[in-house]
Amino acid sequence: MDIKLLTDYEKQSIGERQPLPERYLRLSDDELDARIAGAKATLGKRCVILGHHIQRDEVIKFADFIGDSLKLSRAAASRTEADYIVFCGVHFMAESADILRAPHQKVVLPDLAAGCSMADMAAEDQLEICWRELEQMGVRTDAVENGKAGLIPVTYINSSAAIKAFVGVHGGIVCTSTNARAIMTWAWERGDKILMLPDQHLGRNTAFKMGVPLDEMVVWDPNEMYGGLDAAQLKAARLLLWKGHCSVHTRFTVPQIEAFRKKYPEGRVVAHPECTLDVVRASDESGSTEYIINTVKSSPPGTIWAVATEIHLVNRLMNEVAPDKTVVTLDPFGCLCSTMFRVSPNHLLWVLEGLLDGTLHNQIVVPDETKRWAKLALDRMLDIQ
Ligand code: 13P
Ligand code: SF4
Repeated sequence: MDIKLLTDYEKQSIGERQPLPERYLRLSDDELDARIAGAKATLGKRCVILGHHIQRDEVIKFADFIGDSLKLSRAAASRTEADYIVFCGVHFMAESADILRAPHQKVVLPDLAAGCSMADMAAEDQLEICWRELEQMGVRTDAVENGKAGLIPVTYINSSAAIKAFVGVHGGIVCTSTNARAIMTWAWERGDKILMLPDQHLGRNTAFKMGVPLDEMVVWDPNEMYGGLDAAQLKAARLLLWKGHCSVHTRFTVPQIEAFRKKYPEGRVVAHPECTLDVVRASDESGSTEYIINTVKSSPPGTIWAVATEIHLVNRLMNEVAPDKTVVTLDPFGCLCSTMFRVSPNHLLWVLEGLLDGTLHNQIVVPDETKRWAKLALDRMLDIQ
């Protein structure tokens, strides 16, 4: 019997993930560079390549536009001159581009297996169960009283289109690591409580900086009945944090910061808000990948930085962006986002040459109904800043 299980990515995309043809393997770096540059030049303005800050060097050097998740969402919504958006990032980013693109555009993710383990930690059925159980435990999920909802869902952009659509339907909004504070402020103006998913750490770090005490935050575990909480805990909470995390950023630890400070007492530490609260509190600065780049870049020459984010970005800071500073990774072994890494120059070449001969490989197509509601949640975010 021939059983084919589709991954969530495949279900939400056109067709199946197409593996890289053998003829695109074992090409030399020089040949890859020359052919990618050639295909890009021939495609010209018909194709725009977007690249996330933590994408590998061999790929990012071909990006027309580089940014963090917020900047790339805006780029996807505004680069309407191109017919094709080739997204060198991970699946949720390409989905967001497909939701925000102009009608004539098509979005390609060079390898559909380039996912995000954090986004995978919140499935649509888990969120539906959560919503139902919250209602059963007395949380007002849709009703508005005295002009305020009981609960506003906020999803980090690192989530599937289906999660964004659920959030859009229920009056909620998307956030990124750049605008999380403004978005949570927006949500608390409209509701008594926030359900923040899928990253508990971004939610906790942001709310803590906003002055919300830790005892007003609870963690909703989707693998437990009723999230592992009781009605009294829910009643007292202002922030419900989905039990999800980034497997890359949670590898950074306070002992690593202590070791760095011992070696470099004058050194500074900058961490991404997907790191744990203790790491963010022990750091000097915290912010999105874009914030990290700007902070290190604008510091005085000679400043010594330990950076708690993905290794490709740290290496680029060290070698290209801020060569007049000393930049080290906080984790001596370096933290790699192995899914982002799946977008190789070979994949990029294959999809670009495919576009040249009229074949779309690994197109991302979010179903229309999902797109409609997910766009509402994304547009609410883009309207804020
Ligand atoms: P930024 O929006 O800060 O780029 O973060 C996205 C991400 O997935 C980093 O892990
Ligand atoms: Fe997802 Fe973490 Fe990779 Fe960012 S670094 S794409 S949150 S797994």
